[in-house]
Amino acid sequence: METVVSGIRSTGKLHLGNYYGAIKNFVQMQQAHNCYFFIADLHSLTTHPTPGDLHASVRQVVVEYLAAGIDPEIATIYIQSDVPEVTELYLYLNMNAYLGELERATSFKDKVRANPDNINAGLLTYPVLMAADILLHRATKVPVGKDQEQHLEMARTFANRFNRMYQTDYFIEPHAFSFSKQLIKIPGLDGKGKMGKSEGEANAVYLSDTPEVIRKKVMRAVTDSGPTEPNQQKPEAIQNLFTLLAAVSSPDTVQHFDECYNSCQIRYGDLKKQLAEDMIVATDTVRKRIDEISKDNEYISKVIRWGNEKARESARKTIADVREIIGFRKF
Ligand code: TYM
Repeated sequence: METVVSGIRSTGKLHLGNYYGAIKNFVQMQQAHNCYFFIADLHSLTTHPTPGDLHASVRQVVVEYLAAGIDPEIATIYIQSDVPEVTELYLYLNMNAYLGELERATSFKDKVRANPDNINAGLLTYPVLMAADILLHRATKVPVGKDQEQHLEMARTFANRFNRMYQTDYFIEPHAFSFSKQLIKIPGLDGKGKMGKSEGEANAVYLSDTPEVIRKKVMRAVTDSGPTEPNQQKPEAIQNLFTLLAAVSSPDTVQHFDECYNSCQIRYGDLKKQLAEDMIVATDTVRKRIDEISKDNEYISKVIRWGNEKARESARKTIADVREIIGFRKF
């Protein structure tokens, strides 16, 4: 059975981007793979180092994993910081990660641009910790959204470099994975760029949003004054609505609105209404389960205790092997 690893940072509620880019694949993969799905709370410290919020944010992701259908009896759900072996592997991999390549990572450059006052070394080495997460269980498949593609490329670089350096074939190359033909990028509602937690509350539709909130957000999504000639190329804001529609609606619905657009008869109000209703249907079950599961502290703790133990078992084995390969010997 192939091993699968992926994680989500504990930075708040999960949105449709997290769902379609990552979690939907997690759920589909769990039966036929040996899966480790964790909450990347160490990674969240790079941008959200607030002790008061941390525990609740971690818990929120656990609840949403379970609500979305990850079965803790099949897949291993754990908290990154509860498996300290990952920080040891991170240290070893850091010895082989070059400043130049880390500075060139798109995610690092974006973070520097967005927040020039907090360029910490954790941000710089974010992809190294991510490689450590994956290599810790020697995973081959990593279900992630499009924005993580470069990080996976870096994980392969670090794995291969380690192997070359120590003349071993211990680490296996991990690859980004999605059941769709390409890795997914779900756009936001603000007319530009991806759906994200840091792009503002109104840009993202959360799995826990009520139908009223979803309708309100979608009706406020950015549009334009409409096409002026048939078969015109769609501007970004409009294309984004169609991409969202394709994620949550049937192909017939997308085709219908496409035809309306191409014949200049589109009414954005109708498109938005349909989009909101289909988003509500798509998130309904998960939202209700979030409410139910979040009341059950005992179950949540049990799932985590159980998952942490299984993850540590796998992690301890890797670290013992890696220490041996590096040349640390017991006296
Ligand atoms: P995070 O929390 O930023 O994102 C979690 C997952 O959601 C995906 N995602 C999206 N997919 C499509 N469209 C979007 N708009 C969108 N927004 C987010 C991300 O691609 C990701 O799959 N660095 C990781 C966390 C991590 C990790 C790992 C993942 C830490 N270590 C090891 C895999 C393996 C991240 O992006 O978190």
